[in-house]
Amino acid sequence: MLKSRAAKIILLLSMMALALSAAGCGGGKSKSKGTDPHAAADPHATADPHGGGGATASLPPGVNAVQNEMRLMNEAWQIILTSVSNNNLAAIPEAIHKVHTARNITVEAINNGEYTLPKNPDKMDEFIQMDNAFHDDLVRLLQAVDANDLQAATKQTGVLLNGCTNCHTKFRFK
Ligand code: HEC
Repeated sequence: MLKSRAAKIILLLSMMALALSAAGCGGGKSKSKGTDPHAAADPHATADPHGGGGATASLPPGVNAVQNEMRLMNEAWQIILTSVSNNNLAAIPEAIHKVHTARNITVEAINNGEYTLPKNPDKMDEFIQMDNAFHDDLVRLLQAVDANDLQAATKQTGVLLNGCTNCHTKFRFK
């Protein structure tokens, strides 16, 4: 059960990585940390996910993997909304890129059984599906940004907000 779920996550993650690199967000796991301009600012950039201690070892104290990802998601969301409102699409990819990096830690924490949902913890498979669908929607936003299509990016921002609230209704508070 857990094994097949892990396999599913890994498969979906690889698909995500492909989609993201196709959408121009290919730098998720930079190999040249020293020259990556984001490496110094990213607290996770130097964390070795295979270095033992589990995925959560690379998180700030008292913050679980999903909370960490969500805080970045919240920042990204605000940047996205402001950016589409001002027709400043260029600011969007970097904000999404940070969420993607945090998401790798979430996926690993789930695979390791280190994360429990606050509501409906027995429905982890459904959470993973909603999370994947949400990240596909982020990729669609990146594609609209890539095509410099403000109308599509603006509509997609509304789709994303529904994604936040749908998932919170189901999984956030009891
Ligand atoms: C697939 C499900 C899912 C999606 C999509 C999602 N969230 Fe969350 N979010 C959660 C869960 C679950 C928590 C609670 C995490 C915990 O406390 O373990 C949470 C918590 C949060 C928190 C509180 C983090 C903290 O500091 O404790 C914020 C802020 C947040 N989400 C913002 C957003 C925003 C903004 C979006 C959309 C742009 C979004 N989320 C999309 C599931 C989701």
